[in-house]
Amino acid sequence: MAIVSSHHLQPADQPPEKASPEKASKTAKSTEPLLQGTTLDTEEQGTQEETIRPQSMDEYIGQKDLKDVLSIAIQAAQSRGECLDHLLFYGPPGLGKTTISQILAQAMGVKLHLTSAPALSSPKDIAGLLVNIKPGDLLFIDEIHRLPRVSEEILYPAMEDFRLDITIGKGRSARITSIALPRFTLVGATTKIGALTSPLRDRFGLVQRLRFYELDELEAIVTRTARLLEIAIEPMGANELARRSRGTPRIANRLLRRVRDYAQVKAEGTITQAVAAKALELFNVDPMGLDWTDRKLLQTLIENYGGGPVGLDTLAAATGEDSQTLEEVYEPYLLQIGYLQRTPRGRMATASAYQHLGYQALQIPSEQLPLDMR
Ligand code: ADE
Repeated sequence: MAIVSSHHLQPADQPPEKASPEKASKTAKSTEPLLQGTTLDTEEQGTQEETIRPQSMDEYIGQKDLKDVLSIAIQAAQSRGECLDHLLFYGPPGLGKTTISQILAQAMGVKLHLTSAPALSSPKDIAGLLVNIKPGDLLFIDEIHRLPRVSEEILYPAMEDFRLDITIGKGRSARITSIALPRFTLVGATTKIGALTSPLRDRFGLVQRLRFYELDELEAIVTRTARLLEIAIEPMGANELARRSRGTPRIANRLLRRVRDYAQVKAEGTITQAVAAKALELFNVDPMGLDWTDRKLLQTLIENYGGGPVGLDTLAAATGEDSQTLEEVYEPYLLQIGYLQRTPRGRMATASAYQHLGYQALQIPSEQLPLDMR
C-alpha cells in the first residue's frame, strides 16, 4: 500500500534544564515516532495489520454516524444495482479512512485500488490507474489535497462522465482523445479538507468527517486487538492504553504492541494497568498521550513566547518538525483536548496546557487576550 510518511525523526535534545518543569524533563526518554509512520511499516507488520483490521461494519468499533450513513449508501446502491457515489473522508490521520474503504469494497463485492497523491505526480500516473479499473471498483486516493493541478484535472471528467481525456501530441497539432471508463467510485481521503480545490470537493457526492474516538471505543478496540494478537490484557490495562492513545485507533494498536513487548520482557506477560503505565512512561507517552514533540511545542510556546500567540513556522523550527506535520498530526489532538488554541494571530497555549506541564498558569488580563479567548 502506497501511503507515504513525510516524517523525519529529529535528535532528542532535552528541554532547557532550568526553565522546564520537572515532569516534562523527567519523561524525555524516547522519541520513537509512535504517532506516525506509514500504515504498513514492514512486511511482517503489514501481515499483522491485516489480521487485526476489522473486515465488516459490525466488527468496526466507533464512528457510529459514519457507519449509519455508509450502510444506507451501500444498501441503496445495491438495491439499484449501481456503484457508490464518490466519497470524501476527512479528519486527522489514523482514524480509519483506509479501513472503512476496505470494508466498503468488501460490502460492495468490488476491488479496492489503493494509492496516495504523492504517487500521482504526473497525469499519466492517474491515467494508468483509471484504465485498469473494473465496473464498480473503488479507487482510494490518500492525501488527495496534495494532488497536482494537472493530475486533478484528469479526475474531473473521470468522476463526472466516466471519461478519460488524453492529450496526444504537442502544440498546435495536439488532439484530445476520450476513452470511456466503467462507472467506479473515487474515495478521497484528506487530513486537510480546506486545502482541496472547490471543483474537486464539489464532485464528491458524500463528504464525511472521521472524529476522534471516545475512551470506551478505544478500550474496546485495544481489547479486540489484544484478543486477535493473543495478548493477555486486563480491563484497566486496556483503559490505561486507551487513555494515552490520543483518540486514535492506529496509535492505540501501535502502543499495544510496544506494551506487549514490555509485558513479556519485564513482567509476567499480562498487560495490567501498572505494566501499561510503566511501559508507556518508558516510551515517553505521558498520561494524556502527549509525546516529546507535543510537549516541546507547548513548552516552546510557554517558555519562549509567554504562551503565544506565535506562528506555526516558528513552532516548527523550534521542534524540528515540518509545519505540515505539526498542523496535520500534532495540533488536531492538542486542539481537541483544549491545550492549544488557533487564533488569527497564531497559536496559544491554554491554562490546561500550563497545568498539565506543571507551569504556573499565566494570569493574562482578559483585555490582552484575543477576542476569541475572552
Ligand atoms: N482497529 C483499528 N481500528 C479499529 C476499529 N475502528 N474497530 C475495530 N478494530 C480496529
